[in-house]
Amino acid sequence: MREFLIKNGYHFFSQTDTEVIPNLIHYYYTKETLEDNKFLRAVQAAVHDLKGSYAIEVISSLCPDKMVVVRKDSPLVIGKGSNENFIASDIPAILSYTKDFYLLDDYEYAVITKEQVQFFDSTLKEHQKSTKNIEWDATAAEKNGYADYMLKEIHEQPTAILETIGSRLKLEEKTHFEDLTITSAYLQTLSKICIVACGTAMHAGLVGKDAIEKLCQIPVEVNIASEFRYCNPIIGEKTLCIYISQSGETADTLAALKLAKEKGAKTLAISNVVGSSITREADYTIYTHAGPEIAVASTKAYTSQVILLNILAIYFAELLGSYDSAKLEELKADILSLPSKIENVLHEKTQIEEIAKKIYTEHDMYFIGRGTDYHVAMEGSLKLKEISYIHSEAYAAGELKHGTIALIENGITVVGVLTNPVLTPKTISNLQEVVSRGAKTLIVTNQNLRNTNFDFTISIPKVNNLVSPILSVIPLQLLAYYISKNKGLDVDKPRNLAKSVTVE
Ligand code: AGP
Repeated sequence: MREFLIKNGYHFFSQTDTEVIPNLIHYYYTKETLEDNKFLRAVQAAVHDLKGSYAIEVISSLCPDKMVVVRKDSPLVIGKGSNENFIASDIPAILSYTKDFYLLDDYEYAVITKEQVQFFDSTLKEHQKSTKNIEWDATAAEKNGYADYMLKEIHEQPTAILETIGSRLKLEEKTHFEDLTITSAYLQTLSKICIVACGTAMHAGLVGKDAIEKLCQIPVEVNIASEFRYCNPIIGEKTLCIYISQSGETADTLAALKLAKEKGAKTLAISNVVGSSITREADYTIYTHAGPEIAVASTKAYTSQVILLNILAIYFAELLGSYDSAKLEELKADILSLPSKIENVLHEKTQIEEIAKKIYTEHDMYFIGRGTDYHVAMEGSLKLKEISYIHSEAYAAGELKHGTIALIENGITVVGVLTNPVLTPKTISNLQEVVSRGAKTLIVTNQNLRNTNFDFTISIPKVNNLVSPILSVIPLQLLAYYISKNKGLDVDKPRNLAKSVTVE
């Protein structure tokens, strides 16, 4: 396209793809003979030539009072104001101006002026569209006295989880989800469930797998979306694919969802953003209702996803009659006790702040655990590396001696997560091996550990192992936060990262 435009007299000043677009629009604009809607028709002609994903806003001195927007697989929202309208890539960006949003479909065009928004399909046939009211409070997207969004969002976890639970889960009542029409007959046809997501959302999926397998006896695979979309997965009518995405806009997750639909699998989206792309593509959607998450490092979205997956597992188990109902009631009681238990963990933050002061200069850290604790270790490790830039890895504790233990020496900190009484003695013996090689050890546990020689121990309340990640992850979130602060880094906007990864 660049070559074509250069041959036609256009000059380029950068290497970005984006620069092609205005030139291409200008090229078509000058070719248009009809005056009616000339600007829009030129944009449409240019978009017709584009491949890939994009969200484009076109403004021109030739048509100073209007803008044209169009998207394909990338987020773009239009906010409706009074005598003013807005566009943004994300709802929180304009939440202080309006709560009424138009959600644009792929290849749908909007022509926006101060007074109105007109919509056109890909053939430029005009149609009407109604707004969606977003209930988020504008102050929810502000720091409200906290030093950083991440710290605020860590502290919002008790209320975020209460919102996620909502009226879905109550003691001695059947769990229910509004708008989820999955039946017991359909669940009985399933040969497996695939959970697909990226990063932290994928880590939440690993915890969800434990809950669904234990309560429903349905095999669950957890897949990284960028792998799933290219591995020709064995899925079809007998597979339910669950997609987890805070933003609902992650490019790989969205593409993996479209693939499952093509292959005939039913799709269920778990998202925090109403009307986001994956929710519009999926057969079913359930929302986490955690409120806007601004910090790049995900915290409250993770715990809300873990809770929602547990509630979903209980809902499936009740439909299938696959788990002892008294034990399900105990799990429900544990889930309902979590908000106050999270508050208790948050009260211990000074202890974690002090530990961070002692270890923030380190270069390598390892996180270990077994079972669900291993999945939390993965999340703790990701949190640390993304905001503190300290190299960190998570390992299933039993895997250490198959190679990684060669790296353990003086000056390295190993974080152990121990919440499962059956697996705790095993992980303790792995930790003793790293202690004897000179590593410092930091333990997050709900067990009474006697006669151990660990350097730091953070105690958390006891809770059912399926939801223990909700409590054990919080010290790890705070540890990453305080280490980053000690290093003087920008906690909310770590280098090289974006909140929504809308490209492959
Ligand atoms: C988490 O701290 C990261 N920022 C990242 O791994 C994130 O969870 C991932 O990009 C997925 O985002 P999503 O939930 O919006 O799809």
